[in-house]
Amino acid sequence: MAGMQGVTMPTHIVALGGSLLRPEEEELRAMWFGQLRQLAVHFEGNGRKLGIVVGGGLPAREAISLARNSFTDPYRLDTVGIAATRLNATILQQSLLEVGCKVCDRIPETTQDAAELLQSHSIVVMGGTTPGHTTDAVAVALARDCSAAHCVIATNVSHVHDSDPRVNPEAKAIEEMTLAELSEITGTEPLAPGESAAVDPIAVKWAIDAAIKLAVLDGRDLSRLEDALEGREFVGTLVRVE
Ligand code: UTP
Repeated sequence: MAGMQGVTMPTHIVALGGSLLRPEEEELRAMWFGQLRQLAVHFEGNGRKLGIVVGGGLPAREAISLARNSFTDPYRLDTVGIAATRLNATILQQSLLEVGCKVCDRIPETTQDAAELLQSHSIVVMGGTTPGHTTDAVAVALARDCSAAHCVIATNVSHVHDSDPRVNPEAKAIEEMTLAELSEITGTEPLAPGESAAVDPIAVKWAIDAAIKLAVLDGRDLSRLEDALEGREFVGTLVRVE
């Protein structure tokens, strides 16, 4: 994995799906948070840098559906969604600060700002930036701005599938593919506010533009995230540049 320009320590970028914070599953959530904190402490201890982009999950879905009662403009709905991602980012940021990680005490609003903050902090946590895409795309943009060679997308499905596994029980999991093949599956149309997909089409487009390799995996099992971050084989989908 590439290091960041002007910085000797390797930088790793993760999109952490908001659904992983799962407020509806209290016991599992506490365990997952504990493991994530351990992973961050271990990572920092090894002198590596971590940029974490947190999704909106349940608070985003609830806030967007509440907002839809009074307006339908997608830009405004996205703005509501972004606020939820920043709320979740703050929870994770404070949780990591509490165990003594050198986390930036600000939640940056742009990926350029986050990339700069990663020069002086071990860990930077952020949420969404601007309307029109999800935090998957923000993570890819951050990887680009940090000159990282790859971006991990931790979500709540095991792999990218050849069709939507929620609709088609015969959908096949894909272990390895190219960004162009992924783009055929996701399409190129931006998602509607609050709409979910295995990977955001805008994230795929930006990954193609910046030649960023992706690892898509189930972040509920943090050993898979750790494997991908360590550059080991991991359970999930490796999306090659070509
Ligand atoms: P998420 O990034 O959480 O969407 O953004 P997601 O990936 O579908 O869901 P998770 O990862 O499982 O939580 C939630 C909503 O916030 C707005 C969009 O409306 C998106 O659907 N958003 C988020 C933006 O408009 N811009 C951003 O940079 C991030």
